[in-house]
Amino acid sequence: MSEKQEFAFEMAVSNIRFGAGVTRELGMDLADAGARNVLVITDPVVKTTPAAHVAFESLDASRIPYCVYDRVRVEPTDESFLDAIAFARQGSERGRYDAFVALGGGSTIDTAKAVNLYTTHPPEEFLDYVNPPIGKGIPVPGPLKPLLAIPTTAGTGSETTGVSIFDLSRMHAKTGIASRRLKPTLGYLDPENTRTMPPQVAASSGLDILSHAIESYTALPFSERPRPERPALRPAYQGSNPISDIWSLQALRMVAKYIVRAVEDPSDDEARANMILAASYAGVGFGNAGVHLPHGMSYPVSGHVNGYRAPGYAVDHPLIPHGFSVILNAPAVFRFTASARPERHLQAAEALGADVSRARCEDAGNILSDRIVWFMERLKTPNGLREIGYCSSDIPTLVQGTLPQHRVTKLSPRPAGTEDLSRLFEESMVAW
Ligand SMILES: NC(=O)c1ccc[n+]([C@@H]2O[C@H](COP(=O)([O-])OP(=O)(O)OC[C@H]3O[C@@H](n4cnc5c(N)ncnc54)[C@H](O)[C@@H]3O)[C@@H](O)[C@H]2O)c1
Repeated sequence: MSEKQEFAFEMAVSNIRFGAGVTRELGMDLADAGARNVLVITDPVVKTTPAAHVAFESLDASRIPYCVYDRVRVEPTDESFLDAIAFARQGSERGRYDAFVALGGGSTIDTAKAVNLYTTHPPEEFLDYVNPPIGKGIPVPGPLKPLLAIPTTAGTGSETTGVSIFDLSRMHAKTGIASRRLKPTLGYLDPENTRTMPPQVAASSGLDILSHAIESYTALPFSERPRPERPALRPAYQGSNPISDIWSLQALRMVAKYIVRAVEDPSDDEARANMILAASYAGVGFGNAGVHLPHGMSYPVSGHVNGYRAPGYAVDHPLIPHGFSVILNAPAVFRFTASARPERHLQAAEALGADVSRARCEDAGNILSDRIVWFMERLKTPNGLREIGYCSSDIPTLVQGTLPQHRVTKLSPRPAGTEDLSRLFEESMVAW
């Protein structure tokens, strides 16, 4: 074994509680933890849903003093993070907050992680904690305050991960902060909370699960990354590894069985329950293994939104839903990466329901990509980047926005340079 090559991986566990109605236990948990001044972080739409009523009732029943911040931006930016951080820094009349509750989708949970970090360990500059090469990547110096996360979408798995993603407005590309210390203290997986998702939100967030699981399963193996100087510098995203594999493959099987049902019939309790579980399964998988090109390429796609307004998203700004920005790149990417790990691409296709009994390794990319496109058509995603406002002349900009996303692009099982990325974006213009 080379001295310079990684030989170990580390599994960071995530605390989750699953069950229809677990949101009602929020107040009791905070009372047991001795919380005296709680900030609930949510977005303006989720604040009006039954999920929020149940959470507020639970806090009232346990006499937990709390304030609400309801200005989370859907697809957060550095400015929206700073707005939430400034609100939290002011504290309430009871002083500083001693615990946080995130109630919403990935946008809300990621905002709450940033609020927790920036109010507990304020940095000198905003970019200090942000992933290099965009930020300085300074390690989080100590533990954070309790953060209880209640996802209301079934997608990001952010309730299980140590990652907080935002759009850096001046770069028009997403980046993030990654540290195991950002992980929520507990994630409440309550299928009652996803019942009110509009179908487009259910489709986009569900396809995010699908891509998380395939990307982490097909990522560069952990043993092919360079060994860090100190164990503490081992990244959260370490490459595919035998423990993440189990979570990722199982998530794929669940998505294959339930995504269409959950999107088409929000009253299907079994489908919603399995999708919210699958989001966390994939979260545990990719939270330790990482994602690669579909996510890396999605960051400039959502950052350069050009007036596109996603149906079903009740927001006052143009927006490309995260899950769509990822999945539109996925078929081209997996056709490209399959040659590096064909068996894994075939296993992922099989978990998604494809017949691979007579498949040859050289067909792996097409088989997996065709299966993904089948789900995209059925779930009525936009038909490629062209439908959300991009054309070939945008490709150099999209490539420039992808290249700095080292944290994820370096986990691609097949390295992708400028020309490869240009071709992948071109192929992603039309999906079927
Ligand atoms: N931290 C991580 O590990 C991680 C992983 C993947 C994605 N993300 C980030 O998460 C964000 C996307 O999050 P998301 O897909 O969960 O959606 P979201 O939080 O952006 O919400 C999408 C829309 O759905 C609405 N909504 C949410 N739940 C609802 C409900 N139950 N009923 C009705 N409306 C509801 C919201 O108000 C919003 O309009 C992106 O910024 C992405 O980069 C983070």
